[in-house]
Amino acid sequence: MQETGSSPLIASAHRALTLNRSHGLTVPHLQMFPAGYLWDTAVIAKGLAVFDPDRAAAEILRLLSAQWRSGMLPNEVYFDTDRFRRWIHGTHPDTPTGMTTSGITQPPMIVRSALEVGRRLDPDARLSFFRASLPALATFCRWVLDRRTGDRGLAVVIHPHETGMDNRADLVGPMAAHWLTGTTIPQQVSRAALLLTVKTGRNLVGDCRTVTVGHRCSHPEVLAASLQTHHLRRLGYDLAAIRASGRGVLVEDVGYNAVFLDALHCLQEMAAELGPDAAREHLPPQLPPAIDRLTTGLEQLWQPDVDVHGGGYVSRDARTGQVLPGATVAGLFPLLVERRPERVRTMTARLTDPDKYWTLVPPPSAPLDSPAFDAARYWQGPAWPFPTDIIETGLELTGEHDLAEELRHRYLTRPHGQEHAEYQNPVTGAPLGARPFSPAAALTLRFADRMPG
Ligand code: GLC
Repeated sequence: MQETGSSPLIASAHRALTLNRSHGLTVPHLQMFPAGYLWDTAVIAKGLAVFDPDRAAAEILRLLSAQWRSGMLPNEVYFDTDRFRRWIHGTHPDTPTGMTTSGITQPPMIVRSALEVGRRLDPDARLSFFRASLPALATFCRWVLDRRTGDRGLAVVIHPHETGMDNRADLVGPMAAHWLTGTTIPQQVSRAALLLTVKTGRNLVGDCRTVTVGHRCSHPEVLAASLQTHHLRRLGYDLAAIRASGRGVLVEDVGYNAVFLDALHCLQEMAAELGPDAAREHLPPQLPPAIDRLTTGLEQLWQPDVDVHGGGYVSRDARTGQVLPGATVAGLFPLLVERRPERVRTMTARLTDPDKYWTLVPPPSAPLDSPAFDAARYWQGPAWPFPTDIIETGLELTGEHDLAEELRHRYLTRPHGQEHAEYQNPVTGAPLGARPFSPAAALTLRFADRMPG
């Protein structure tokens, strides 16, 4: 372990993960995000596993206990039935008893996390953890294949929050065009009145109580997202019904699909450790052809001449098949699954380009040279722990070990590292949003553990 080994940085990461505990889970942040979040838990568990793999495994199982009867894993889980929360999130009949959850999901990093956490357990504990978690994880993947996969073989996200990147630069344009112009807002309420309600709510009980709106989603972005949530809720979050309604932005998201394809490979690896019976019993029978279809589907998201580096991966509108304009860090997530050397070279050239993603704290959520880039605004510029984790994992999987190490090094030596900010200005390193944020602290521990020396 390098200098950062037993440093104040590591001590502060441990403190963050001790502080942010609630209902048997390490939550992202006790005040601002006091819930279980799907991709946060994935990152947090990998960090916990560095020093306490049993706790990491227990936390993954705790989150999986919120699985809907349909197989869906919600992105946001409260282990109570508080009246206000139920009013906000609704009460779908598929929700497990005694919990309140959202009706949407998030990129399924939890499958790779379970695999990695399991590998840190001793052999007996590993087998029992895999036996306990594989059925839920496989059911979830089957749900994505059966209920969320479109004609082109790609998973379709029904809400921007399902990408994990709420106001990502390529999503906000279509959302605004769909929900904030023309006749989509009910005639009897004016847009101004709705915006005022959003603003007041956020200032009184929401994220803007503690963080300036310039660092969060804008009020119109939140309004558009809320109108979409309302629409989805009325339709029971059912993709077929949403398609048929003609309303709501649906996306073949490159980030989601890359993580999902990786998750399907991880499911196979977990099942292989349990033996052929487990594979027969738990894995969806259509898994190998689904992997082939998804691989082919992802191929269609590769566009020639994205920028000076050549081709690149992008997302598409799932209704029209049109590419969503605007480069974002999600286009680098296929490093998880891309094995063709020339493609990997193009993506790593983009990642390491100082005019794009190779900033003081890499990678920003949008490239520096994008017209949409804003160094402080949530998912439109700042660097977050989730893409950092995904890209570092992808680099290791493609054999780009030196670059993976350089990314870890930049993360561990970033300014204000001990604050474990939710996100950071990628150029100056200024800490932004909630802190200490558990995914940032967990990533610190995981990266430090992987450094040589
Ligand atoms: C925000 C982020 C999302 C994260 C959640 C909890 O909604 O956009 O990525 O999962 O907060 O930390």
